[in-house]
Amino acid sequence: MNNRYAIVLAAGQGSRMKSALYKVLHQVAGKPMVHHVIEQVEGIHPDQIVTVVGHGAAKVQEQLGTASEYVLQTEQLGTGHAVLMAKDKLEGKEGTTLVICGDTPLLTTETLEKLFEMHQKAQAKATILSAYAKDPTGYGRVIRNDAAQVEKIVEQKDATEAEQQVTEINTGTYCFDNVALFQALAKVGKENVQGEYYLTDVIGILKEAGESVTAYQMPHFEESLGVNDRLALAEANRLMRQRINNAHMLKGVTFIDPLTTYIDADVEIGSDTVIEAGVILKGTTKIGKNCFIGAHSEIKESIIEDNVTVTSSHIEQAVVAQGSDIGPFGRLRPGAKLGRNVHVGNFVEIKNATLDEGTKVGHLTYVGDATLGKNINVGCGAVFVNYDGKQKHHTTVGDNVFIGCNANLVAPLAIGANSFIAAGSTITKDVPDESLAIARARQENKTEYAKKLPYSQENH
Ligand code: UD1
Ligand code: CA
Repeated sequence: MNNRYAIVLAAGQGSRMKSALYKVLHQVAGKPMVHHVIEQVEGIHPDQIVTVVGHGAAKVQEQLGTASEYVLQTEQLGTGHAVLMAKDKLEGKEGTTLVICGDTPLLTTETLEKLFEMHQKAQAKATILSAYAKDPTGYGRVIRNDAAQVEKIVEQKDATEAEQQVTEINTGTYCFDNVALFQALAKVGKENVQGEYYLTDVIGILKEAGESVTAYQMPHFEESLGVNDRLALAEANRLMRQRINNAHMLKGVTFIDPLTTYIDADVEIGSDTVIEAGVILKGTTKIGKNCFIGAHSEIKESIIEDNVTVTSSHIEQAVVAQGSDIGPFGRLRPGAKLGRNVHVGNFVEIKNATLDEGTKVGHLTYVGDATLGKNINVGCGAVFVNYDGKQKHHTTVGDNVFIGCNANLVAPLAIGANSFIAAGSTITKDVPDESLAIARARQENKTEYAKKLPYSQENH
């Protein structure tokens, strides 16, 4: 196969975003735009990927890591100038070079493959990926001659009235004969409204030199969306969300309302799982089969195994084993690990704690920095007192322990298996196995005394 190279343009500040964050690092479905682009480019298996970085170079490189080589464009003098930065890496090499912008996150490997196919078939020196836009405002226009052959690309700002009527737009993605690309780039000037070196001028230069230039018109304009401002960013997120949700539905996941369900690009979901409205699944979260994820739950960087029910709860960096249920209004914080068939009820917060199989924490409880065995019952309002104002301490609870309501377990602490902690106790000393621990004032009943109190029935 012909050698393939790719150049990703990602040096711009993105002034239209009005942001301190560099444009290509703005996220679509939980991932920076340029990361989406690189992943799709990797799908065409280039021999080399060169990313042109400038604004936020270190951040972009940190994001993409070893997926790409990098060249620095210190001054952003235009897309043509940006491609020229890759000269030392690619000039003179035989093969086809894909040039793509870091701000077109929706383009897919399949479309790029079709562009290569067309380029190959036409034996062209340059093939533009073009699309028809209902509203082409802002995009470069593909200008064709009377024989419908591509002549040049004209930028919005340089277009005549007549050229502005053209609805075939330049997506900013192209295949070039690599040798011809760098030869033509040397001839690009900056005599245009923006005073920039336009990559798009390469098309006209090649055409005038009598070379063959063509365009592959992709069927779906939406996929070519270039994100220049926050309106387009929201639109890109909407379209990506639709793509992601459709893919999950086709794999057997039920969505009650896909329009209001927000799932990041790398989330995995098993079949027969039901996802209600307003659910947000982030990062690399994995949800098993046959789960129920109720309305307005948010799950981030977590693993949820099969047959788990989550209702209106927040879960972050946690692991939940099969058959467990959480919520409504449960909160699992980083390091929460639930074994099989664990029950976490309403207003329960769990942080950095392991709860083994069958353990139940039903209501209004904080469990922090603890290891709980199997089949433990934690009563309402219990608190694992893990913090002394300076340090965090750990609590261990053995299997089958019963912790009464409103107990305080002051760490560091160990409670032996099969023990019983009386309600309202503040436990500060370790409890041996099979023991009853009570740590509260004894109750005294003063008979008839209530009658003497000012608010008793008799005094009214
Ligand atoms: C560009 C095209 C336009 C096309 C549109 C598609 C040119 C001159 N115009 O316009 O025809 O319709 O994309 O989305 O190419 N960049 C650099 N260095 C620079 C300038 C830009 O790396 O000096 C990068 C940006 O970071 C961005 C990409 O190139 O990722 C495109 O630049 P942008 O300014 O967004 O170009 P558009 O005006 O959208
Ligand atoms: Ca753009």
